[in-house]
Order: sequence, then C-alpha cells, then structure tokens
Amino acid sequence: MRRVILFIILCSVMSAFGQKFTGLALTPPMGWNSWNHFACDVNEAIIMETADAMVETGMKDAGYLYVNIDDCWHGKRDSLGFIHPDPERFPSGMKALSDYIHSKGLKMGIYSDAGWKTCGGRPGSRGYEYQDAMQYAKWGVDYLKYDWCNTEELNARGAYLTMCNALHKAGRPIVFSLCEWGNNDPWKWGKIVGHLWRTTGDIAVLFDGEVDHGGWSSWGVLQIMDMRKDIRQYAGPDHWNDPDMMEVGNGMSQAEDRAHFAMWCMLAAPLIAGNDLGKMSKETLEILTNEDAIAVDQDSLGIQAFKVLVIDSVDVWAKPLMNDELAVCFLNRAKSDRKIVFDWKTNPIKDTIFEKEFLFDVNEYKIRDLWKKKSRGSTKKTFKSEIASHDVIMLRLAKK
Ligand code: GLA
Repeated sequence: MRRVILFIILCSVMSAFGQKFTGLALTPPMGWNSWNHFACDVNEAIIMETADAMVETGMKDAGYLYVNIDDCWHGKRDSLGFIHPDPERFPSGMKALSDYIHSKGLKMGIYSDAGWKTCGGRPGSRGYEYQDAMQYAKWGVDYLKYDWCNTEELNARGAYLTMCNALHKAGRPIVFSLCEWGNNDPWKWGKIVGHLWRTTGDIAVLFDGEVDHGGWSSWGVLQIMDMRKDIRQYAGPDHWNDPDMMEVGNGMSQAEDRAHFAMWCMLAAPLIAGNDLGKMSKETLEILTNEDAIAVDQDSLGIQAFKVLVIDSVDVWAKPLMNDELAVCFLNRAKSDRKIVFDWKTNPIKDTIFEKEFLFDVNEYKIRDLWKKKSRGSTKKTFKSEIASHDVIMLRLAKK
C-alpha cells in the first residue's frame, strides 16, 4: 500500500513538473515556418515545394531542418474528436506530407493553440490535448508550435504543461515551442515544459518601429531585442528564448536583413526562416546560409549574447563561445552611417552571469570578420571601421 501511495505521489509530482522529451534542441532549432510569408494561405503544394527548396538551395546543408506549417492547416474534428487537415488544402493528408518531408531528410512541424480556437479561428486544442498529441504522433510530426489565442481564463503554465504531458504520453519525441508572446514570463517556467518560448509579440517586416493593428502591435527587430534584453540567464541548451521567426528576405533592406540575422545568431535564437524559399534572391540565401554566423548561433555552450555598451548609436554585443572564443557584433541602430573606433585593451568584456572574462590587455585575440570572411588583425590594435546604417560588423575572436 505504501509503495502504491509513493508511486502515486511520484507520478503527480512528475506531471506537475512536466515530462518534456529532453535533448531534442541542444542547439537552437533551425528550420522554416509558413506564417511570415504565406500567413493563412498555406497548402500541401507550398509545403512540398519548400521542402524541395530547402534541399536544393543548400539551406538543409547549412543546418535548416524543420519544415513547419503554421496556422490554418486545420479542417474539422471527426465524430470521435480527432482533428483532420483541411481536405482542400491538404488532400493527401498529413501522414503523406510528413513522409514526403522525411524522405528529404527533413522534419515536419505543425501548429496548434491552447485555446478553443487558433489565432486564425481554426479549431484549437483545448479539451483535446491528448487526442491531438496522439494524432500528431501518428502523422509523424516532429515539432509543435503551440499558440495562445482564445485562452480566456486559462493558466499559461498549466495549459502548456498539459500539452507537454500529452506529447510525452503520445510517445513521439516532438520539439515543443511555446508561443504565449512572453505574457506570462515563460522564461521562468518554460525550461521544464518546452524547448523554446516566444519572448514577445509578433515580429513585423520592420527594422525599427511598431505596427499598430488596433488592439495589438507587431514589432521591429530592434524593439524585440530591447524589450527582452534582461532574460538571457534563462536560456541555454534545450530551453531557448525565441524572439520570433525571421523576416529575412521579406522586404527589409539587405543591411537590415543581415543585421537581423546576425543579431538572431548572437541571441542564440531559433533560426526559423519565414520567407518564400522557392523564390529567394541570391543575397537572401547568402545571409541565411552564412556558416560562420550560424556557427555562432549553434555554439554548443548555448550562451545568449549581452549588450556590452553603446557608442554613438552603435551597440556592442558579445557572446561567449566554446574554447574561450568570443563573438562580438557592432550594430548600427542609427539612420546614418557611423565610424567605429574600439580600443580592445581599455574595454575588457566581462560576462558576470555566465562568468566569462575577456581581458584584452592580458591576452591577444585574432579577429575574423564573419561577413567579409577575412581576418581583421588582432586585439592588439584599436578596431577602426565604417558601419552603414542598420548594418552590422560581426567578429569572432580566438586567443592567439
Ligand atoms: C500568432 C503567433 C504567430 C502566428 C499567428 C497565426 O499571432 O504569434 O506567430 O502563429 O498567431 O495565426
């Protein structure tokens, strides 16, 4: 009897803490999501073409793995409550689609919502969590983004925990992406529930500013960074801050796209492309597949960058990397060009949270420019460079 009671207590403690599949996102997940470009206009042809393009363009080789269908794939629930895809948009069904995606060596993601309805008004998972998780597992889904519209009085932590446990019960390892826009401090409890959590409202195709939709706003790249600059201590391997899917290739200038991508890499953000992969320009592809920038994002230490200082509207960001290396990114927030003059020796970089020190008067580091793909000397000399408006200079420092 005692043993049974102990077992029951253990089970309830475990479910209170969540039963997340561990180890699925030891570095920030990389992939693509339909929402930023296609919004509700999604169908199986688009998803299959995207999977093809992911391979053919070299995005897969660069590390992009997940092909994620966002809102509006849903059809109706059947008489037993199981959800099915919209038969007109996805006539072959989700299992066939995931088989196709898997045949390319990629993984499939899907979207649902903790409320009655998704943000696009499709059936949500509330009350159907275990059934939906079973259905996703049967379909071969590998990633679930779980939104927060129409949740009324639900408790966020509890609602996400329920889906976490449902996924676990269904038995298929599925990356769990929490999307409640940072409203309930998910960085404080998300680690045991999911693999990543959105930190803010939606991103806009905008570098600097706010788009008012009447009742809610979407945000520019700089605003998203600024809003959540103090939560880096909560992120790490298998539990990431998610500043939202990328807008690279969706209409910003080339410099802005580069800066957006570079900063997402500095922030150890999930790299989920949001453009039309079938039609992207050479410049967009070059940005999204910059292997040196991606290596900064995917560094196995998993430390998110911090802002060291600001000099005349140029932010200086630093991200400690494996082997005592360091990524440094200068970000010009101004609407005009700037000159950078940065004396390493008088500017030691100290990460007090993750306890890393870079003392340039004691050690000399060689410098590699990650966009120009060339050496920029060493930290012995003051770093001098021009930087265009809304652009970045991204460097990797290694001890000499
Ligand atoms: C919310 C999410 C977006 C997207 C839409 C879909 O706004 O934050 O990323 O998933 O819903 O309706």
